[in-house]
Amino acid sequence: MQTVTAIAHPSLAFVKYWGKVDHTLNIPANGSISVNLSGATTTTTVTFDAALNVDHITINGAPGEHLRVAGHLDRVRRMAGIDARAVVESRNDFPASAGIASSSSAFAALSLAASRAAGLNLDERALSILARSGSGSACRSIPDGFAEWLPGADHASSYARQIAPPDHWDLRVISVVVETGAKAISSSDGHRAAATSPLFQARLAALPHALETVRCAILARDFAAFGAAAEAEALSMHAVALTSRVEGCDWMTGICYWQPGTVRMLKAVEDWRRGGLPVYLTIDAGPNVHLLCEAQCQAALEAELDALLPEVGADAHYFVSKPAPGARVVGD
Ligand code: DP6
Repeated sequence: MQTVTAIAHPSLAFVKYWGKVDHTLNIPANGSISVNLSGATTTTTVTFDAALNVDHITINGAPGEHLRVAGHLDRVRRMAGIDARAVVESRNDFPASAGIASSSSAFAALSLAASRAAGLNLDERALSILARSGSGSACRSIPDGFAEWLPGADHASSYARQIAPPDHWDLRVISVVVETGAKAISSSDGHRAAATSPLFQARLAALPHALETVRCAILARDFAAFGAAAEAEALSMHAVALTSRVEGCDWMTGICYWQPGTVRMLKAVEDWRRGGLPVYLTIDAGPNVHLLCEAQCQAALEAELDALLPEVGADAHYFVSKPAPGARVVGD
């Protein structure tokens, strides 16, 4: 059978997906807007082989059961009407535990490689729907560049589509890896807890306006409006997380993804902005901080960051991204 290799980049959200209305299908409580990060790539190769009895899945060199991946292969097999098991080899060029949203690039690359290897030729929308079933944010790693996930009401209507191609805006994202350890609460558990926050409904009510502001600012390349709205949005997501209760974890004060280095970065961004450097930040479900700037400010920001890093953490480091294409087959 055919072997297919696909690559995809993590999807960094400017309006966050936080909370689901359907935890099995990953139907989100709200729409979200993102860009693909060029500085990090997942490469996944899939071969279905009728001679195999079980799936052989290796992620970053570690063979294992990898149940979420095996479950996703089952979805592809059902769609293609095959029952052959598969060999899957997937590798990130960034550490899986870096707090960079590896599930988005992972399930986007897997969806494309597995569907093609199974003989399916899905269009972008169908591929985005398939990727979403594996991990919600993965649906946004399918289109090129800037994407919006239309939350939809069911499996067929919840998918991401492009709002602007990668070369629309020379935005830079400097991803500061504050800590590399695995986070205590997965994003899936965070989604589950979100509705327990007294702030959750208020956040949902404000989201149509946030989506409109961020979408229009991207289309108009209005950096100040974009940055301010994206930063406020990330803090709103973290306010919900901080005030959420995790079932069975009564000892927790709430979900605090931040570490001391995260707070150090927040203060630095305030200082830089007060000093006239146009930079904003966003933070996913982890301690790491993504700095947002335009190309002409990248060098000045890197100089500030180089000087600050020893205060952020002993192992703190960063990588730079531009807006990147979506999932694609290698060799296409
Ligand atoms: C904070 O897509 O990882 O990065 O659908 O349960 O796999 P599952 O969750 P996931 O959630 C990502 C949450 C986020 C915000 C975002 O990417 O929009």
